[in-house]
Amino acid sequence: MTVDTHHYRFALVGCGGRGRQLGRYVAGMAEAQLVAVADLAPERLDLARSELGDVACYPDHLSMLAEVRPDVMILSTTGPHHAAITRDATRMGVRGIYCEKPMACSLADADQMIADCTAAGTVLVIGHQRRWMKPILQVREALRAGVIGRLTHGYVYWPSGRVGSNGTHFFDAIAFMIDSQPVEVVGRLVPGIDTARIEDHPVYRERLTSDPGAMGFITYSNGVRLALDCLSNVMLPNAYTFCGTKGWLTLCEAGWTIDHRARDEEARSIPRAWLPLERRELPALTPDTPGEAEREGYRELIRCIETGARPTSSGEDGRAALETIVAFHLSSAAGMRPVTLPLPPEARDVVLTIH
Ligand SMILES: NC(=O)c1ccc[n+]([C@@H]2O[C@H](COP(=O)([O-])OP(=O)(O)OC[C@H]3O[C@@H](n4cnc5c(N)ncnc54)[C@H](O)[C@@H]3O)[C@@H](O)[C@H]2O)c1
Repeated sequence: MTVDTHHYRFALVGCGGRGRQLGRYVAGMAEAQLVAVADLAPERLDLARSELGDVACYPDHLSMLAEVRPDVMILSTTGPHHAAITRDATRMGVRGIYCEKPMACSLADADQMIADCTAAGTVLVIGHQRRWMKPILQVREALRAGVIGRLTHGYVYWPSGRVGSNGTHFFDAIAFMIDSQPVEVVGRLVPGIDTARIEDHPVYRERLTSDPGAMGFITYSNGVRLALDCLSNVMLPNAYTFCGTKGWLTLCEAGWTIDHRARDEEARSIPRAWLPLERRELPALTPDTPGEAEREGYRELIRCIETGARPTSSGEDGRAALETIVAFHLSSAAGMRPVTLPLPPEARDVVLTIH
């Protein structure tokens, strides 16, 4: 006797390098199958056909949605197209959308996506995959367990600039790990590459022209202050340092290592701040294999369709990361003036260039 396992029928819109990767990640999932793809560019469909096996190919998302009626749509065009395609998908009965970052290039678009999905009962998941990565979850748990006491401040940096395209990942991951959202941003944006300090690179020079590097400070609603640097001459891999009343913890994403120093006693008075720290071991981090986090995102999306639960990486979470990026732009344009969040309604109309 064969058991009829329900397959969620996934369809992919946008067959660039990332889209095809997201399509490949569906393979091997018992509960899901990639049945169709769409892209405006025929050569991208050719690549999808050769890499993704037996999938129906469509020259646009509308014809695909009308004919295939997928349960889930993976949306991997770039950000400017997300709101319009999301609207079409919700109108055509798609039950869940896994939307690549950046969620959108304006808060107005992000709001429209949330509203359309809410009205249609479509589950919206934003592809900030760190939320399903085991090392990020382990660090989040350690912070919650109080290994560094009450969080006070920290520092984050990453190379290759792009406060939008990269920043969306890190702003989201930080908010997730420290369980708080920004209430103030002070920032300076610097476009392009600082060729007085590092070698020029034509690809990154162009990317950083429209989506600049940044330095600045974020204050979170739980009082934590975070310094940030992604100016073009940051020459080290992504790292976060979290400091608290008992110690610190630095997470480096290259190799997923942790440096942790702490003391037993929590300092609550300034003289006790000088009490020494000792090196402490945390359980070794378990790095994910490629695609594992995204597949967990797909599975969670399916669970949310079935149970009505809120996803770990919701539209509201994606919007919050975008709001932080917009705040950096506003603060920098105003000469590093502190910008308070939530941003005022007129900030919804700021349209950014984010790949
Ligand atoms: N989460 C991650 O780690 C990660 C990694 C890489 C890229 N990304 C993001 O994924 C997105 C896609 O990246 P990419 O490098 O594949 O981009 P890309 O520009 O190479 O591909 C996007 C594709 O979407 C297609 N497209 C645009 N509008 C369309 C429409 N209306 N209907 C159908 N197809 C349409 C384009 O023809 C193109 O082939 C970007 O926003 C990028 O920031 C995320």
